[in-house]
Amino acid sequence: MSIGQRKLDHLRLVIDDPQVNRQGNHFDQFRLAHCALPECDLKDIDTRCTFLGKELQLPLLISSMTGGNHPDIIKINRHLAEAAEACGVALAVGSQRIQFEQPAALDSFSLRQLAPTVPLIANIGAVQLNYGLGLAQAQTAIDTLDADGLYCHLNPLQEAIQPEGDTNFSGLWNKIESLSQQINKPLLLKEVGSGLSPKLIQQGMTRGICYFDIAGQGGTSWSRIEHHRSNGNTNGITFQDWGLPTPWILQQCRPFAAHTTLIASGGLRNGIDVVKSLVLGARIGGMAAPFLQPAMESTQAVIQTIEQIAQEIRIAMFLLGESHLDAIRLNDSLMIDLSEGAYR
Ligand SMILES: Cc1cc2nc3c(=O)[nH]c(=O)nc-3n(C[C@H](O)[C@H](O)[C@H](O)COP(=O)(O)O)c2cc1C
Repeated sequence: MSIGQRKLDHLRLVIDDPQVNRQGNHFDQFRLAHCALPECDLKDIDTRCTFLGKELQLPLLISSMTGGNHPDIIKINRHLAEAAEACGVALAVGSQRIQFEQPAALDSFSLRQLAPTVPLIANIGAVQLNYGLGLAQAQTAIDTLDADGLYCHLNPLQEAIQPEGDTNFSGLWNKIESLSQQINKPLLLKEVGSGLSPKLIQQGMTRGICYFDIAGQGGTSWSRIEHHRSNGNTNGITFQDWGLPTPWILQQCRPFAAHTTLIASGGLRNGIDVVKSLVLGARIGGMAAPFLQPAMESTQAVIQTIEQIAQEIRIAMFLLGESHLDAIRLNDSLMIDLSEGAYR
């Protein structure tokens, strides 16, 4: 099967099967500490922050989804890019491997003219470093977008379930480290929905990597998506909830979160989840699946989704009595962990 057809299948399956979104709701384990006297005006809440050297209006990233030469896919990425620029949020694209096999896919990744000021992030699969991709392709992926960074995604569960999966992950740490030293933009390590473990993040830090997108369990399940493509093989259902929940990873990374840039994604579904992620140590929050349906419709539909999340972030900050993001990040006094028994 061609990569282009696989990309279309993925989009259709995320839309057609609501249970691909696992609704782990792991952030419900935490409650933000309500402040009945905020001592600030909701109108003055400031959600600006810096990411990859650029200012964002919101601590929000539209996570990697797609790219290819099909008109529907080109349209999706155009809507996402226009909305990201209009709202001042970051945007990552899906895996760019397809542009090396189908040059017509380049159009779907050439987004800089639509989004001239916001951070754009290119994307390759780490395992492809064992299947023919190398420095030249990684740098081309960055240049295609005029990107501010390169996502290197790790997806061993997806590859293990996918009928045509590439499963040789051996020797990749050295290749990722070497790539991060040779490309001209930062390399960001990410998972796709099973989570980067705290141990893996620490290993990455010792290898000089400074950005980690957790992409934890609780939201989109690639195991379930690939199950639908696997001719009745049940492994994808057995493993559909495999992985580490996003807030658990953030909690475990607390001791070293100040020394690196953590992006919280995987199961974030509203602005409250974004604010909880920042309190737990992330710099920004990312969401993928919540943007897919709006992106299939129009730029305006994506803008509306972002504005809804923006309102939720602002109201949550107001109700914490904090008008700046700096006061929220890693502020333990703002978080109650219900699993520890308090406030039950
Ligand atoms: C339709 C779709 C396509 C995706 N394609 C990619 C991809 O090509 N590369 C990648 O790194 N992640 C990809 N992802 C994973 C997301 O970037 C994200 O890590 C994951 O979906 C968890 O976020 P969510 O729960 O908000 O969807 C995709 C997600 C979706 C929903």
